[in-house]
Amino acid sequence: MTLPERAITVVEVGPRDGLQNERSAVPTAIKAAFIEALVGAGLPVIEATSFVNPAAIPQLADAEDLMRILHRRPEVRYPVLVPNLRGFERAIAAGVDAIALFSAATDAFALKNVRASVDQTFDRFSEVVAAARADEQPVWIRGYVSVAFDCPYSGRVSPAAVIAVAERFLAIGCDEICLADTIGTAHPQDVTVLLAEARGTVPFDRLALHFHDTGGRAIENVAAALDRGITIFDAAAGGLGGCPFAPGAPGNLDTERLVSFLDEQGLATGVDPDAVRRAAEALRPALAVAS
Ligand code: COA
Ligand code: ZN
Repeated sequence: MTLPERAITVVEVGPRDGLQNERSAVPTAIKAAFIEALVGAGLPVIEATSFVNPAAIPQLADAEDLMRILHRRPEVRYPVLVPNLRGFERAIAAGVDAIALFSAATDAFALKNVRASVDQTFDRFSEVVAAARADEQPVWIRGYVSVAFDCPYSGRVSPAAVIAVAERFLAIGCDEICLADTIGTAHPQDVTVLLAEARGTVPFDRLALHFHDTGGRAIENVAAALDRGITIFDAAAGGLGGCPFAPGAPGNLDTERLVSFLDEQGLATGVDPDAVRRAAEALRPALAVAS
């Protein structure tokens, strides 16, 4: 494997991608303590919550309260998911300065997830981006391409479809693009093929990969992406999560496993895997009660 020269960034998505998939909501104060423990473990970016329709994701209906009680550190980025202008306005009112927009590589998935075609998601995003540009504070923006390998509703996804959506995110001014293996079915060969096709259109220093471990290949997929020069990887403490609109998608890649794997390759992340494990363990009693 060829190792990248850029520093590796681990993006913690447990508080959002993990907790949105629990059957009931974890108390807000426990979410805040979880996020603060993850910051303590050295994670530089923590996706904190979503400002979506609370009826769609009741587990994250406390987004305002969470952002209010969270002790945010200036050196840490706390992006939140925003589906539309309404979500953006809520996020900004809560003092957020980093957001994640989310579309998909297929209309079938976008329609299930956000009740919009891919084109319609970008109509919503253009409103969000216009409002973000008008805001006095700069707003950092990630764009997610869900189902970048396989779609639970329409099957195999072509790299061209994924890259087309990634390019639309770049065109509207996203700072970072994230390609997500939403249902955890990607093979390392698929990662290699997708990245070979993406090279030249999506700058790799702004490209993140988001693997679920459903098929047990998340670490092999990370290795394939590292080999191609990718240095931003998502993971969730304790391997929490999935996506409630993607049947059969349990379990993000564990942050502790990812960090330990990167350590073994001699790639420093600044993250303490034992502290991540402790943060996940401290959350576990609340999950047991919640579900
Ligand atoms: N925050 C809070 N409420 C919102 C909202 C937001 N960002 N966007 C819409 N709503 C409310 C509307 O006010 C309306 O409320 P009402 O039923 O009380 O009138 C309701 O949601 C429907 O609004 P509409 O604009 O018709 O949206 P929709 O029904 O087409 O749903 C989404 C679109 C994107 C808002 C919704 O599907 C959603 O939030 N999905 C979340 C998907 C998700 O998070 N998936 C997991 C991440 S991969
Ligand atoms: Zn995910």
